[in-house]
Amino acid sequence: MSKQILCLPGDGIGPEIMAQALKVLDAAKQRFGLNIEVSHGLVGGAAIDHDGVPLSDETLDMARNSDAILFGAVGGPKWDHLPMAGRPEKGLLQLRSELDLFANLRPAILFPQLAETSSLKPELVAGLDILIVRELTGGIYFGEPRGVRTLENGEREGFNTYVYRESEIRRIAKVAFEAARKRGRRLCSVDKSNVLEVTGLWREVVIDESASYNDVELSHMYVDNAAMQLVRAPKQFDVMVTGNMFGDILSDCAAMLTGSIGMLPSASLNEKNQGMYEPVHGSAPDIAGENKANPLAQILSLAMLLRYSLADGSSLAEAAAADAIEKAVSDVLDKGYRTGDIAFDGCQLAGTVEMGDAVVECLLNT
Ligand code: NAD
Ligand code: IPM
Ligand code: MN
Repeated sequence: MSKQILCLPGDGIGPEIMAQALKVLDAAKQRFGLNIEVSHGLVGGAAIDHDGVPLSDETLDMARNSDAILFGAVGGPKWDHLPMAGRPEKGLLQLRSELDLFANLRPAILFPQLAETSSLKPELVAGLDILIVRELTGGIYFGEPRGVRTLENGEREGFNTYVYRESEIRRIAKVAFEAARKRGRRLCSVDKSNVLEVTGLWREVVIDESASYNDVELSHMYVDNAAMQLVRAPKQFDVMVTGNMFGDILSDCAAMLTGSIGMLPSASLNEKNQGMYEPVHGSAPDIAGENKANPLAQILSLAMLLRYSLADGSSLAEAAAADAIEKAVSDVLDKGYRTGDIAFDGCQLAGTVEMGDAVVECLLNT
């Protein structure tokens, strides 16, 4: 039986980078004989323009019924005036919440070819391989009550609620401990337990859960220090686990260590390993429509999709395809191809399409 992928390109550079990932998927299907069907849907601003909402019931149903979702990016100035509940970003948040995609894995791995492109000195990032595990369906992003109210004196007050239940902390902690167990066996839990009760509970539950993982060394760090340590000495980290908002911020920061945010893929998984795969970056309105966006984060997200959600006991082809796509990306960098965000003097400056073509070429011919 064929496996079903739902493709949601979204807005801005989303459709441009998605087109490259789909070319790479076609090439991977050809080389590895993968039996995958792709369907297409609208999300974000594109869905608002077409359906009046950032995620229609039909698209949500298609998402529920697919084995995995490949997501581009949403948002842009055209929709920034809309009320919060109707904005493009809400489509993404709804997908995460409705499919219970609570575990967001954001690997920050440096391709050695990009050591000079990192905003840190090459020796600080050489060999960098961090996994940020971000809780994705709770915390301040989803806490109630939320809103803007008018006080008695007429002044407006905005408010959000930072809330985590013990079970939510426990399940993301488990994912992080399991991931650490398969890697360097070191887990750093990031919180702000010196100030916020909710993250005091976070720390308690993570410590409690660590009793089942004696083989993993657990440490704790306040989020302000963690941000500083990421740019001071990032190689001290193996796996980091944190809540929704801290994870959002720290993963953009980690992205720059790898050369560009255009390089970072991510996987958002639920308990059934159904997943949505998307670059860490956004819709980059400043370069949209100019064939300038780096498509590699989207292409690497496709590789994660094949490895995490499509590969199963019945077939090794998807895992082999994921490895081959990652190798093709590395080969393209070896050949000197660079989009503007990772360019250096004397490189082969490539547009979005040329970069996608180069990956396809390497995937089919090496
Ligand atoms: P952004 O990530 O879109 O862009 C930040 C900077 O990084 C920009 O200068 C951009 O040109 C650059 N950049 C991002 N991706 C790139 C790529 N692939 N290649 C080259 N350069 C790239 O963040 P922002 O500007 O804060 O947000 C823009 C819009 O995207 C907003 O509407 C925001 O809500 C949305 N957003 C969406 C997602 C998502 O859909 N997952 C994630 C983050 C932001
Ligand atoms: C991300 C994005 C999203 C987030 C936005 C677009 C809702 O920044 O995936 O990192 O904050 O989670
Ligand atoms: Mn973000």
